[in-house]
Amino acid sequence: MLRIAVVGTGYVGLTAGACFAHLGHDVTCIDIDADKVRGLSRGLVPIMEEGLDRLVEEGLAAGRLSFTWDLAAGVDGADLAFLCVPTPIDTGGLADLSALRAACADLGGMLDPGVVVVVKSTVPVGTTRNLPEFLGRDDLPVASNPEFLREGTAVEDFLRPDRLVVGADRGEVVDRVVAVYGGLDVPVVRTDPTAAEMVKYASNAYLVTRLSFVNAIAAICEGFSADVDAVVRGMGLDARIGPAYLRPGPGWGGSCFPKDTRALVESARRGGYEFRFLEAAIAVNEEQFDRVVSKASDTVGGNLSGRRVAVWGLTFKAGTDDHRDSPAVAIVERLLAAGAEVVACDPAVAFAGPDLPAGLVVVADPVDACRGAETLVVLTEWSSFGDVDPGVVGDVMAGRIVVDTRGVLDRVAWEAIGLEVRGIGR
Ligand SMILES: NC(=O)c1ccc[n+]([C@@H]2O[C@H](COP(=O)([O-])OP(=O)(O)OC[C@H]3O[C@@H](n4cnc5c(N)ncnc54)[C@H](O)[C@@H]3O)[C@@H](O)[C@H]2O)c1
Repeated sequence: MLRIAVVGTGYVGLTAGACFAHLGHDVTCIDIDADKVRGLSRGLVPIMEEGLDRLVEEGLAAGRLSFTWDLAAGVDGADLAFLCVPTPIDTGGLADLSALRAACADLGGMLDPGVVVVVKSTVPVGTTRNLPEFLGRDDLPVASNPEFLREGTAVEDFLRPDRLVVGADRGEVVDRVVAVYGGLDVPVVRTDPTAAEMVKYASNAYLVTRLSFVNAIAAICEGFSADVDAVVRGMGLDARIGPAYLRPGPGWGGSCFPKDTRALVESARRGGYEFRFLEAAIAVNEEQFDRVVSKASDTVGGNLSGRRVAVWGLTFKAGTDDHRDSPAVAIVERLLAAGAEVVACDPAVAFAGPDLPAGLVVVADPVDACRGAETLVVLTEWSSFGDVDPGVVGDVMAGRIVVDTRGVLDRVAWEAIGLEVRGIGR
């Protein structure tokens, strides 16, 4: 059993902390958000993540998991400190390391010599090697251990990862980090900190490239009336290609892909390499948002001004309540900018808070969102949307055409009651 401090208790830090406690360690999660800490100490998990509440409850009950805003108390006696603070995009297009630097500046005055400081936040290549400078100490071993969990399946991904990547300049430090995951049967990539940091950026860059690629193929399919579902199935069965991340949709987004790809393009540029390939994937994604808006516009005769549009889905994917940099939100912004009145429904978004576009109306019931709507656009793949009775929707909608960017609706059932379903590449 190790004593672990996790600094930053968001999607990554909370999942890591709860899972480390589940693996038998003694874990303290630290956060500057006192309300979050108070709630978590009572077992109230502030994010939607399958299985996380059970693990938090288990950790609290076993006395292996605790929460605090007091950094000094939280790291007292720790063997390792994992940094899971946010690294949003900064104004120059790189990752903003201010939270990481602030946490390190404080930790430098608190940690006992020999405590391993592990960077789990996604940080530009080279950052981990700069940690001794941020910490103001050279007696604290540092390591990079990038996180690959996906929101919506975070616990499952953390406890059954495809791989563990740990980078440090001394093999003995890598071993100390790998030991934390001792209970997991997983391939381990032991490397130096810069390669570990690059694995994270390169993986995300590759995944978005596949997504933009398949959206481009879908656009070409539309021109030839070819069924993109058959095309991606035919491609995905090729063992060299595989089926993952080959599903056409409204474009990619979320809290990581956009910021990480932009940061990689920018840091490559500063390092003297123009990453045109990735820049193209980003540009294709922006075009994809516009393509969805055009599809919506086409359903109402080419002009969205003053037209009522129902939207199903605001989160960037199903299974999460996170709508940071969601493609759905990017598309809603464009619909509103084109003059549409947008009424949205999402099972994980209760109201139109300040972090959603001004003018957007959010309702709780998907059928209510469709009342009087001239078109419906499905933007997130919540399976509950597939359960809605198309007959009821058809009765309340003013228009007859639906744009299903995720392929969640049963096209035959919807078309049987006289609604036309248009998709992406379908
Ligand atoms: N969310 C994901 O799916 C995911 C996946 C892999 C990697 N990452 C990376 O992990 C990092 C964290 O992402 P996240 O989604 O968990 O962020 P988040 O915004 O959900 O959580 C970050 C938490 O850190 C806290 N915090 C900020 N500054 C702090 C400080 N100085 N001390 C203590 N707590 C502090 C915030 O209050 C917040 O609770 C980012 O670098 C992100 O790119 C995220």
